[in-house]
Amino acid sequence: MNNNVVVVERVSKRFGQEQVLCDVSLTLEQGKIHGVIGRNGSGKTVLMKCICGFLRPSSGSVRVFSRTIGKDCDFAPDTGALIEQPGFLPHETGLNNLLWLARLGKGATKKTVCEVIAQVGLDPALKKSVSKYSLGMRQRLGIAQALLDDPKLLILDEPMNGLDKNGVRDMRKLLLSLKEQGKTILLASHFAQDIDELCDTVCEMDQGVLTQVKQQGGAME
Ligand SMILES: Nc1ncnc2c1ncn2[C@@H]1O[C@H](COP(=O)(O)OP(=O)(O)O)[C@@H](O)[C@H]1O
Ligand SMILES: [Mg+2]
Repeated sequence: MNNNVVVVERVSKRFGQEQVLCDVSLTLEQGKIHGVIGRNGSGKTVLMKCICGFLRPSSGSVRVFSRTIGKDCDFAPDTGALIEQPGFLPHETGLNNLLWLARLGKGATKKTVCEVIAQVGLDPALKKSVSKYSLGMRQRLGIAQALLDDPKLLILDEPMNGLDKNGVRDMRKLLLSLKEQGKTILLASHFAQDIDELCDTVCEMDQGVLTQVKQQGGAME
């Protein structure tokens, strides 16, 4: 059986004259946490958007669950994503925000919405509006949003961004529990320390060029 959830093959992406991804190849195995580290502006978000189907590569191909994005489907199937800041309604509760997004999406039920909120460690009954949430709570709600349709692949762009030590520790626990449920996770961070212990594989993006720095069991350089 093929264990590869994502296969990125020789993807390049340019915006006008600017080459943002250069011949990137990457394979993500099922049930693992895969990290991409790299400085701000190195191309991590663009790569994630190409995998989701939000951007089309200039050349090369992306397959997710054996389907070629842009050919077999427009967007990655069975995939939940948190890319940049999700646009929550600030004066509504977390529950109302996700109920609204569920209606716009595949129609997850209220029961499912409450379950995903609880799963990320938030209280579905919390009356606070999202504008009063801490950054960590907002990131959790973002992950709950990505989990709404019970995806098998999760693409999380800098979920640790701006979190304090405890927030990062809690986020790590949450991601490990999602991995235990069999989900495949792709995670970007500009802080190698944030994701080092957590990830089974780590790649580094440098000016659009991707290199593997850690494989399962191996140490980071
Ligand atoms: N839609 C876009 N149009 C033009 N340039 C873009 C676009 N999106 C990203 N870029 C450029 O691509 C480069 C990589 O950006 P990004 O993937 O967001 O980096 P990272 O996520 O690693 O911080 C940056 O120079 C950025 O300005
Ligand atoms: Mg980014």
